[in-house]
Amino acid sequence: MCDDVSLRAIADAEGTPLYVYSAAEIRARYAALDEAFSTYPHRLHYAFKANSTLAITRLLCGLGAAADVNSVWELEVARRAGFPATDIVFTGVGKSLQELECAVPLGLKAINVESAGELSRIEAIAAQRGQPARIAIRINPDIDAKSHPHISTGLRVNKFGIPADLARELAASVAGRPALRLVAVHVHVGSQITSIEPLARAAAFVAELVASLPSTVGPLEYVDLGGGLGIAYDGGTAVTPKQYAAALLEPIRPTGLPIVIEPGRSLLGPAGTLLARVIDIKPRTASSEFVVIDAGMTELMRPALYEAFHRIEPVMPRSGPNRQYEIVGPVCESSDVVGRDRVLPPLEVGDLVAVRDAGAYGSAMASNYNRRPFPVEVLVEAGRWNVIRRRQTVEDMLSLES
Ligand code: LLP
Repeated sequence: MCDDVSLRAIADAEGTPLYVYSAAEIRARYAALDEAFSTYPHRLHYAFKANSTLAITRLLCGLGAAADVNSVWELEVARRAGFPATDIVFTGVGKSLQELECAVPLGLKAINVESAGELSRIEAIAAQRGQPARIAIRINPDIDAKSHPHISTGLRVNKFGIPADLARELAASVAGRPALRLVAVHVHVGSQITSIEPLARAAAFVAELVASLPSTVGPLEYVDLGGGLGIAYDGGTAVTPKQYAAALLEPIRPTGLPIVIEPGRSLLGPAGTLLARVIDIKPRTASSEFVVIDAGMTELMRPALYEAFHRIEPVMPRSGPNRQYEIVGPVCESSDVVGRDRVLPPLEVGDLVAVRDAGAYGSAMASNYNRRPFPVEVLVEAGRWNVIRRRQTVEDMLSLES
C-alpha cells in the first residue's frame, strides 16, 4: 500500500514502470525538518534537482518551501510552480552566460557564485541593466563529506566553490562594486551525508569565515548551508532532523544570521517508490537466478552510477522459502543491476516489485537510453491517486526530431 491506496491497483491501471509518491510523506518530512529549526530564523529551499516534477514542486511551494535551482530550466519550472523570484536561490558550477542573462534581471534571492569569473560576468550584466545583483559566495571548505566520491563536493579537489582566502578577497571586493550586493555565504559539502560531523564542520567553517570578513563588507542577510542530509536506504536509522538542526544551529547561532538550507533527498527520497514488474527469470549460478524487471538504470540510475543500495520488495510476497536473486533491468548494459545478491520470497514472471526510496534522484535522473520512455508518475493523496506526469510516448520523443 501507499498510504491507503493499493499499489497493485495503481500498477494495474497505469502500467509499469511507474513512480508513486506519497503526498502525506512529503508533508510529514517537510514539517519535521521545518519544526527542527523552529527555534531559529530559517528557510527551507527545496533542491529542485532531487525531483522537479511540477506537481511535487507545487506541493512543496504550498507548504511554504522556497527553492534552490541548478539551471535556468529548473528556475523556469520553479516560477511556473509558483515560487516567487525572491524565494529562489540559483546554484550551479557552470552557469552559462545565457543563463546568467536570463537570471540576473529576475531579482532572485541570490545567485550562488562559484568563481571570480562568474562574479564578474554577473556584475557586467547587472551594471548594464542598472540593477544590482544579489549574490552569495559559495565557499569550498576542503571538508570530506564521507559520502560516495561522486556526490562529495566539499574537498579542494572537487570542482565546486571558492577556497576561503579567495572568497574573503572577493567578498571584500564586492564592497566597492555597486552592481553587486553580497547577501550570504554558501556551502554544500555533499549529498547522502550520514554522519553529523561533516555537516557541523561545514557550518562552523561558514561561521568562522563570516566572522573574519573585513568590516568594509556590510552585514550579510543569511548563511546558506546547502543540502546533504542523508536517508537510511537500508531501512535503518539516519541522522534525524533534530540532530541535524542542532549541529547547524550551534555554530551559526553566534552569528545571529538566519539559516537557509537546501534539502532535496531528505524530503523526497523515502516518499517515492519505483514500481516494476518481473519480465523474466533465468538461471545465474548454482544458487541464484537473474530476475529481469521492467525498470533499470533508465528509471533509477543510482545503483549503476554509485553502486547505491535500494531496498527491493515484492508488492504481494509469495509464500515459500527465500531465494537468492540478482535483480537486473532491461537495459543493454552489464551495469544495469538494480539490486545485487538479494534474498527475497520467491518471485514469478508478472509479479510486482517496489524499489524503495526512489523519490529523489529517480525520475529527475531518468533517461531515454534504449528509447525507453519516461515512466508515468502518480501522487497519492487523500486516499486516491493522480497522474502527475503521463508516460512518455515514442511520438513525444520523435516530436523533437526531423
Ligand atoms: N544544494 C546543492 C548546492 C547541491 O549541490 C545539492 C545536491 C543539494 C543542495 C541537495 O542535496 P540533498 O539534500 O539532496 O543531498 N544524484 C545524486 C545526488 C547528487 C546531489 C547533488 N547536489 C544521488 O542520486 O545520490
